[in-house]
Amino acid sequence: MDIPWHDIRSVAVLTGAGISAESGVPTFRGEDGLWRTYRAEDLATPDAFCRDPHLVWEWYDWRRGLIAGCRPNAAHRTLAHMERRFDDWTLITQNVDGLHQLAGSRSVVELHGSIWRMRCTQECQTPWEDRTVPLSMAGGALPRCPNCGSLARPDVVWFGESLPGEALTAALAAAQRCQVMLVVGTSAVVQPAASLPLVALRRGAYVVEINPQPTPLSDTAHEVIREPAASALPRWWQTWQRRVTVG
Ligand code: OAD
Ligand code: ZN
Repeated sequence: MDIPWHDIRSVAVLTGAGISAESGVPTFRGEDGLWRTYRAEDLATPDAFCRDPHLVWEWYDWRRGLIAGCRPNAAHRTLAHMERRFDDWTLITQNVDGLHQLAGSRSVVELHGSIWRMRCTQECQTPWEDRTVPLSMAGGALPRCPNCGSLARPDVVWFGESLPGEALTAALAAAQRCQVMLVVGTSAVVQPAASLPLVALRRGAYVVEINPQPTPLSDTAHEVIREPAASALPRWWQTWQRRVTVG
């Protein structure tokens, strides 16, 4: 890397489902990625919700219950700790599980929304937080908008939908100005998130991938750590700090 380690001021991080894997949250494209016989691509779409809102809500209810029992791991905690050490720090996540916030990360750019928020399908009011687990869907009752009574939906981004504008703008800006980008636990195949490391690379950032499996990014990243995040990330951060103190 051209810049001395102690001169690094601007860091961006992109995380995906893999960072929460060791907390017990299943990844989407891993072996345990299926619910019943469905893939995420079959359920996380506006069409699927339109066709069978009950099925889609059942899936989200199951995931909410599962995530509610999960705690942040050492990788989440390391990122929360690192946030305090940099003037310009942006944690961009594709995860909807809220584990970064639970680990103490203060500012998190949620590219794909949050499983802990709902919103009105008629968009009559701003999304609201609802952490009820499990949801009471007895007799086919589905979550409703408290304001107008319309069907509610998870405040997450589904396939075919655009990302929240503010989050995407913040993520792009961070990718453009960061000196170092960490890419942790993402298969790097879902756009536009997958292009953020490429933006950073093009702008001359030093890009580090942490993932036990190869991804389309692996060949171009400056450093690839083929290990689970909960052990690799704390160690990588220790090495960084040692480099800084040694000079
Ligand atoms: P994926 O399930 O596609 O990829 C998870 C990645 O994590 C894989 O590359 C694994 O090799 C890696 N992985 C597994 N265990 C790991 C560990 N312990 N440490 C580090 N990495 C590990 O998940 P995402 O890339 O997050 O979108 O998927 C992107 C988006 O596709 C999701 O946000 C979701 C999904 O459909 C929406 O819901 C809109
Ligand atoms: Zn409403």
